[in-house]
Amino acid sequence: MQTSTNTLIGDALNRVDGPAKVTGTAEYAGDHRIEGGIAEGYIVEAPAGPGRITRLDTTAAERAEGVITVLTHRNAPAQKPYGTPEEEGRFTQSHAVLENDQVRHFGEPVALVIAGTLEQARHAASLVEIKIESTEGVYNPLDHRDKEEKPESVDGLDEVDTHDGDFDAAFSASDISVEASYFTGAQHSAAMEPHVTVAQWKNGKLTIHMAIQIIASAVSAFANTLGIDEENVRIISPFTGGGFGSKLGVHNEAILAALGAIACGRPVRVAQTRRNVFSNGPHRSRHLQELKLGASRDGKLKAIRHYSLAGMARNYPFAEAPASPTRASYAADAIHTIHRVVKADIPKVDSMRAPGEAIGTLTFETAIDELAEKCGIDPVEFRVLNEPEADPSSGDAFADRRLVECIRTGAEKFGWSGRVTPGSRRDGRKLIGQGMAVAIRPNTLNPSSAEVRLLPDGRLTARLDMTDIGTGTYTILTQIAAETLSIPADRITVELGDSSFPETSGSGGSFGAASSGSALFAACNSLKSALGERLAQAGVAANDFTIKGDRIAVGDRDIALADILDADGLSVEGSVDPDDYANGKAEYSYGVQFAEVEVDADTGELRVRRLLGVFDAGRILNIKTARSQLMGGMIFGIGGALLEETQMDDRYGSFMNRDFAEYHIAVNRDVPDLEVHMLDGFSEHSNPLGSKGIGELGICGAGPAIANAIYEATGVRVRKFPIHLEDVL
Ligand code: MOS
Repeated sequence: MQTSTNTLIGDALNRVDGPAKVTGTAEYAGDHRIEGGIAEGYIVEAPAGPGRITRLDTTAAERAEGVITVLTHRNAPAQKPYGTPEEEGRFTQSHAVLENDQVRHFGEPVALVIAGTLEQARHAASLVEIKIESTEGVYNPLDHRDKEEKPESVDGLDEVDTHDGDFDAAFSASDISVEASYFTGAQHSAAMEPHVTVAQWKNGKLTIHMAIQIIASAVSAFANTLGIDEENVRIISPFTGGGFGSKLGVHNEAILAALGAIACGRPVRVAQTRRNVFSNGPHRSRHLQELKLGASRDGKLKAIRHYSLAGMARNYPFAEAPASPTRASYAADAIHTIHRVVKADIPKVDSMRAPGEAIGTLTFETAIDELAEKCGIDPVEFRVLNEPEADPSSGDAFADRRLVECIRTGAEKFGWSGRVTPGSRRDGRKLIGQGMAVAIRPNTLNPSSAEVRLLPDGRLTARLDMTDIGTGTYTILTQIAAETLSIPADRITVELGDSSFPETSGSGGSFGAASSGSALFAACNSLKSALGERLAQAGVAANDFTIKGDRIAVGDRDIALADILDADGLSVEGSVDPDDYANGKAEYSYGVQFAEVEVDADTGELRVRRLLGVFDAGRILNIKTARSQLMGGMIFGIGGALLEETQMDDRYGSFMNRDFAEYHIAVNRDVPDLEVHMLDGFSEHSNPLGSKGIGELGICGAGPAIANAIYEATGVRVRKFPIHLEDVL
């Protein structure tokens, strides 16, 4: 409930957009209506790939009832050639579709049928005749290790590989070692709302309603694809139904909608079907990871080598960096991390839920568990023993590292009593096991701006192009303005998701709240100064004043806002520049996860009984939405450990399980009581709010804690993920 008393940062304020969402008045992109109607586009996917289109007959489709047009490479409006991300950045490059008769991968769009209704478009799409002459494709990176190469970059990191210390010497000097290969399956983000775009083209201007995480780069993507000026692109996205990385950038449906609108001169909506999402949305590649770890008999890590091999879409050079968290986790004499890719004829690979950490900690933290056991040291103590004094990856001092505090707090709250002999804990037919793992995730701040406007009646409006992808952005921004200006939350309106508003980092990389929040904080402070000036102009010396309803209290005086503001109110901008917070210190968010699992001794059925996380994310902006985000991450950890995998038919390069019946996301039955704890804190080096990134922290470490618990229950070290019941029998 909103209250008229002051709301503070950190309070468990209910989502300010909650009522709009549950009553259906929150407008998601697909809900957008336009007077005169919106034509519906339906994607025709290539039935094979890579290859060349040798026959594409749209005659029957064009004659079908309600069809307006069928777009193919033969009649699509002009586009710039598909971009080169090395030069332009992957989110802003040209994302041209229907370029020519070449097909890059199975499922790539080869036509868009536009009709009056979705049913008409879908029916007509089934009438398009298409033949592909396919060429031999590379689908499974593991089958093509001869084509392995070093990518230009991994997930935006400066270094693809790191070679700190003499690995061979440190490894040979180790008394105890672990050497193993791990496989993690492909995954899809599976947001509740599939990718969807409504495009309008009028007088050379493009208006886009779409589901997106970052508005500004999407504006550039449309401009770069269509060869128009950015000023002529407006994107509106007040609500996005989940992203998890899959909506960082634009995808085929967005460009197709724009092409459709240009081609037929009327608004066009293209919604990816759930099946489309699995071929036209981005995915997390399958990975092979090899770990070589060495320690001294007394449990000091000496040598760490983490190698990762991923499939990378041939024309879209993004690769994940699973070995990146390994660089900053523990002290060792030598730490080598290596990332390699095989270019493959597969759909776009891109960021997904804690890219790097989610699958990197899945392997590394299970290998650490194994090494601790071989050393005869409790996994909790092993980790504490190997705490680094400075960031092993950079040598920089840590801004604040409270990992040990997380670990100790977690062990106590969970009731960790040390490792037991695997298979020795039973509850009837069930084998019980416990395990733990740590979470670490870089903390970043990106340039962002915000505008605030104070109206004479005392209401405040804040505007930013930031998005709320379900995380609670509207709510935390309301709280930041409420606390900074002492204005009650119910008198504040936050407006988001419009490219005409000041530019922010958008939602991604766990930097959204800090970046947009800091910008808003700056704007609110500027507003205070501007109000002070207005008061001074009115002859009131005011170092200290308080907004109270439509009046402003200065000492014992009380002035109507209307006396110093005109009807439009007072509007100011503020921004945050990360350089102002650069301090040469290594910044991360931290956490620990403890899991208890049960394994049916006869059937191998795997169930998580308990999952407990303790996190250090600096100052928490809203205890309720933060807890929800961390829980969501932990649930993805369950998915990564036990459930989620998109399987490719390696004969054809097609994903086989393209719906939620067969792509298994953790559901209520899979999720036990989750216990989330957050350390009280204020991270003084991170940003003016003292917060650190939380969005992707919850997933880190959750999967390996479960895998380590499965080991304790069964004595089986499973090195492929997700772990299935047949793996432990
Ligand atoms: Mo995140 S995978 O940067 O949305």
